[in-house]
Amino acid sequence: QDVLTVLKLLMIGESNVGKSSILLRFTEDEFHENMQSTVGMDYRTKQVTIDGNTVKLAIWVSHFNDTAGQERFRTLTPSYYRDGQGAILVYDVTDRVTFMKLETWLNELNTYCNKTDIIKMVVGNKIDLPNREVSTEEGLQFARRHQTLYIESSAKTADGIKCCFEELVQKIIQT
Ligand code: GTP
Ligand code: MG
Repeated sequence: QDVLTVLKLLMIGESNVGKSSILLRFTEDEFHENMQSTVGMDYRTKQVTIDGNTVKLAIWVSHFNDTAGQERFRTLTPSYYRDGQGAILVYDVTDRVTFMKLETWLNELNTYCNKTDIIKMVVGNKIDLPNREVSTEEGLQFARRHQTLYIESSAKTADGIKCCFEELVQKIIQT
């Protein structure tokens, strides 16, 4: 039996944007309307075959650091970032603040990830909702400016979810 190549992917972005929901939709094809905010670790694996290449994805999601007496803050520790080959930066298209925070997440990624050639994908999630605050054009502009891939998704309807991981993995394999 062949040993599978493992690709390490990171998912980052503000709380409540749908990181865990995207991951759950992708790995289990499930959606939970009342998803709990992640405290502690959120990590899943999935085997995929893309362009004839079978790889195992090891997907790590940023989580709240809940240190007593301190403000809860969202973080991936440096060890999570280490050797990451792909990064998914998620925002909520109905919440402009989460879009504005992408810059901060990109900086954290560039600070802690040792791989300078890490492939980045920006994901505008929750496109099933009517109250959009960030246009597709704005999302695309951000992605162009920062040389990342871009896709819009809904973990609820499954729109764009498979594509997101497939395009990212394709690009990683090509690089
Ligand atoms: P933290 O764990 O706090 O960082 O949040 P998260 O980014 O993991 O978000 P989570 O997946 O927990 O989703 C937050 C809320 O948004 C939950 O109530 C989800 O059901 C909901 N949600 C996630 N994705 C979508 C989506 O695409 N559409 C809609 N309508 N709701 C979504
Ligand atoms: Mg979560």
